[in-house]
Amino acid sequence: MYSKVKIFVRNLSKSFDEKVVLRSVNLEIEEGKSLVIIGGSGSGKSVLLKCIIGLLQPDSRSKIFFDGDNIASTHIKNRQDLIGKFGMLFQAGALLDSLPIWYNVCFHMLHQGLITAKNAKALAKQKLKMVGISSEVLDLYPAQLSGGMQKRVGLARAIANSPEIIFFDEPTAGLDPINAQNISELIANLSKELKATTVTITHDMVCMKRIANKIAMIHSGNIIWQGTKENIKNSGNSFVDAFVKAAGNF
Ligand SMILES: Nc1ncnc2c1ncn2[C@@H]1O[C@H](COP(=O)(O)OP(=O)(O)O)[C@@H](O)[C@H]1O
Ligand SMILES: [Mg+2]
Repeated sequence: MYSKVKIFVRNLSKSFDEKVVLRSVNLEIEEGKSLVIIGGSGSGKSVLLKCIIGLLQPDSRSKIFFDGDNIASTHIKNRQDLIGKFGMLFQAGALLDSLPIWYNVCFHMLHQGLITAKNAKALAKQKLKMVGISSEVLDLYPAQLSGGMQKRVGLARAIANSPEIIFFDEPTAGLDPINAQNISELIANLSKELKATTVTITHDMVCMKRIANKIAMIHSGNIIWQGTKENIKNSGNSFVDAFVKAAGNF
């Protein structure tokens, strides 16, 4: 079936001083689908996501088309209007310790003055429910929650503004296998429920298997293979084979 491409990445490059991290990456993110990007640590996965969502400015000839507009040509400082369309679960959770859970969930909207505190609390309650957390935690602080609960709060924050695209950076990192499986399950179900386009970075094969419609492998700043979970075992690419074998569990 034909799918619309939501984000087109063309020749996306990113260097930090002399260090080249992304080398002319090409990628398509299809609307309503779930793309999983795999790759070893340091291969440029987080940098790729940060360039797409506008936390890092890509190098000058890079193109990132979002619904047809080249957003890479707009400096990230002027990309505010896009922020509301993207949701992101950060690798390290990135909850703010000094703020209560409800404030963390609605942080971006509160920060931009898009919502009152009263409405934020009600919205946080609703989003937390979607990730399986009761309203009892609304006034608690991140340190009072377990790692798995903190991930869920991060998820609630990622979906707080009903984004069109949700990015998940290593959603199961640091969790025990049961919690990891639960989070993968939750992401798969939420994506379906919200009909969102999602991009997930992971080296967790169980997570990949649960979430992915399509898979792309990044190696040394290049997308070196793309396919489905059905053909990843016969990828014909030695880096993919080595990665899948090392990750086990598949
Ligand atoms: N802000 C930054 N400044 C300089 N180097 C960076 C920065 N962010 C990432 N890097 C480097 O880019 C490379 C890729 O990082 P990253 O995308 O975080 O890897 P991963 O695939 O593990 O997510 C690493 O070598 C990292 O040190
Ligand atoms: Mg990373």
